[in-house]
Amino acid sequence: ESQMDTEVFGKKVVYFDEIDSTNIYAKKLGEEMDSHGILVVADRQIQGKGRRGRDWDSPKGSGVWMTLVLKPGIKPADASMITLVAGLSVCKAIQKLYGANCLIKWPNDIVINGKKICGILTEMSTEFDYINHLVVGIGININTMEFPEELKLTATSIEKECGSRVLRSELIAAIMKEFELNYNIFMETCDLEGLMKDYNKYLVSINKEVVIIEAGQKYEAIALGINKNGELRIRTKDGEEKNVFSGEVSVRGI
Ligand code: BTN
Repeated sequence: ESQMDTEVFGKKVVYFDEIDSTNIYAKKLGEEMDSHGILVVADRQIQGKGRRGRDWDSPKGSGVWMTLVLKPGIKPADASMITLVAGLSVCKAIQKLYGANCLIKWPNDIVINGKKICGILTEMSTEFDYINHLVVGIGININTMEFPEELKLTATSIEKECGSRVLRSELIAAIMKEFELNYNIFMETCDLEGLMKDYNKYLVSINKEVVIIEAGQKYEAIALGINKNGELRIRTKDGEEKNVFSGEVSVRGI
């Protein structure tokens, strides 16, 4: 039994000392009828997965490695917005608990002082034109950990940046609370209409110059914020305003 102050999210927790990946386990749970809201947490992952097929280092005691199972009944094309809702929720929870200047690097990363502390990997299983289930994997570096050489300049932990040691259960409960709240707002309209103002407050690149790499082309633009579909609105050098999709571009400099 968990101590969550929520209706559904994380009311049931499946906990492992060690697992291959919480996303892999959550996907199995997702096949079950009543798995909406079940949270899988592990102390250590031996095959933690990052985006684009990368590994995600998940040593014991250093982080929150968890995956939430959802059955949102939305279209596959709308799933990426759930990742944005999750990111906003993680960010708000960390700011509230540790007073950290925690910001969102659209679309999927959370940073403090420009360094990554959290990544999100959402995976889904579809049935006809609908999502059967969706799993939202959240990895947060909390207490000091040694990063491999190539990540030393870009990755950090909450403890390193804020000096406060993190109580894992407290952070997980705070994230579940925020996530459930924001998810319910999202589901009212199935878009980010009700959340984008809030989201843009936490966007690290808002009104800043970003470099967009789109179909091999590289150009500079000003980030104006996300729109209700979760796309990044930008203004190019010649004053044109347009939207970029997370799947098609990589944004550097934020
Ligand atoms: C990324 O930034 O590349 C996404 C990283 C996602 C890591 C989390 S940790 C919990 C869950 N289980 C996994 O195997 N991956 C996600």
